[in-house]
Amino acid sequence: MTTRTRILTGITTTGTPHLGNYAGAIRPAIIASRDSNADSFYFLADYHALIKCDDPLRIQRSRLEIAATWLAGGLDVDRVTFYRQSDIPEIPELTWLLTCVAAKGLLNRAHAYKASVDKNVETGEDPDAGITMGLYSYPVLMAADILMFNAHKVPVGRDQIQHVEMARDIGQRFNHLFGQGKEFFTMPEALIEESVATLPGLDGRKMSKSYDNTIPLFSSAKEMKDAISRIVTDSRAPGEAKDPDNSHLFTLFQAFASAAQADEFRSELLQGLGWGEAKSRLFQLLDSDLGESRERYHQLIERPADLEDILQHGAKKARAVATPFLNELREAVGLRSFVAQTQVAATTKKKAAKTARFVSFREDDGSFRFRLLSADGEQLLLSRNFADGKTAGQVTKQLQAGQVLDVRSEDLSFSVWLEGECVADSPSFADGTARDAAIEALRIALTPVQE
Ligand code: TRP
Repeated sequence: MTTRTRILTGITTTGTPHLGNYAGAIRPAIIASRDSNADSFYFLADYHALIKCDDPLRIQRSRLEIAATWLAGGLDVDRVTFYRQSDIPEIPELTWLLTCVAAKGLLNRAHAYKASVDKNVETGEDPDAGITMGLYSYPVLMAADILMFNAHKVPVGRDQIQHVEMARDIGQRFNHLFGQGKEFFTMPEALIEESVATLPGLDGRKMSKSYDNTIPLFSSAKEMKDAISRIVTDSRAPGEAKDPDNSHLFTLFQAFASAAQADEFRSELLQGLGWGEAKSRLFQLLDSDLGESRERYHQLIERPADLEDILQHGAKKARAVATPFLNELREAVGLRSFVAQTQVAATTKKKAAKTARFVSFREDDGSFRFRLLSADGEQLLLSRNFADGKTAGQVTKQLQAGQVLDVRSEDLSFSVWLEGECVADSPSFADGTARDAAIEALRIALTPVQE
């Protein structure tokens, strides 16, 4: 048994990493992987890339560049498990097992899918115009990535938090249906690095390919220099005091400088250092910090066979975990050898879930409320008061629709929220453990059961 924290994250292989990706994600991940307590799984999410990109050359190029970037940046592949998603056939297989338990209603609510639908509706198109099943099922594939390796922590950007929550939801559902008391899947948590700065780009907005304001990372010293020369500054002349706190050039400098270097640069700017000179300081700093990695990067890119070997080695390590685990999961769902003894279908749990029930009642003041009772009659929730029976009925319906429950803990109780409104409260519990167990029981009770 390992007590290390398993940290897993994927990088979609559709582009070339720029300086912002490096400072915001790659460098912190490489540093985190050196912690003796960390068991890091980092992979190229190339199946995910296919969802967004149908240009084979771009996919191939990006995989190579991203692999080389992480390695050149100092990722130690003896320490971490570094692999390509598409080298692990267990992942698409697990995706299917999870697809068969994932509620469609859950996926309907995925932000990325919803945004595409909204856009279509706005422009008067068919709601699903141009939307592939790949985009729709994106969160299930991501759930398989995460659950396959029982990750504890998943470092992601804010836009991905919902996907990690969906992975929990789907994993929990699978545990409940097939675990027979055993928790196959660990519940992952999204890890949002608050301290890591998002780098500003040339124009001061967030550095992003979609704004066309990036500084290249490892392409060449000249390209980096050219980009730096295009950083937008104010029009203060050399000799005039500059305001470091309102200069994204300074922010960029700071992201790569020691405290002492940053202090020195700050006072030079205050003393009137010219912007041209300031840009060349920034270039020198970046070049001394990244120059060696850039060289390693080009060596790696020129030896794709070596990169291939490294990734195959990573795939082997990952599959040493995935293959036996998937076998267990296949067994659990009934995909078993005919030779092995058969097992009685474990339907008791499903029945238990089915018998959790809503009981509605009317208060003396005429308002409508309901209770949710577990199979053994224990009160899981008591609703707030609703003006009419119809609203109360809609709320119970929504609670059973299979969406991610918005549960908020409050000391020794919790409440359930729908669209920003508190709709029901739990009883109060003896301690936090009892409260958390009740939240778990509630989620299970509200998971739609398949026939
Ligand atoms: N969807 C993630 C992104 O676009 C990439 C990704 C795929 C991922 N699978 C993952 C991240 C699993 C974390 C865990 O950023």
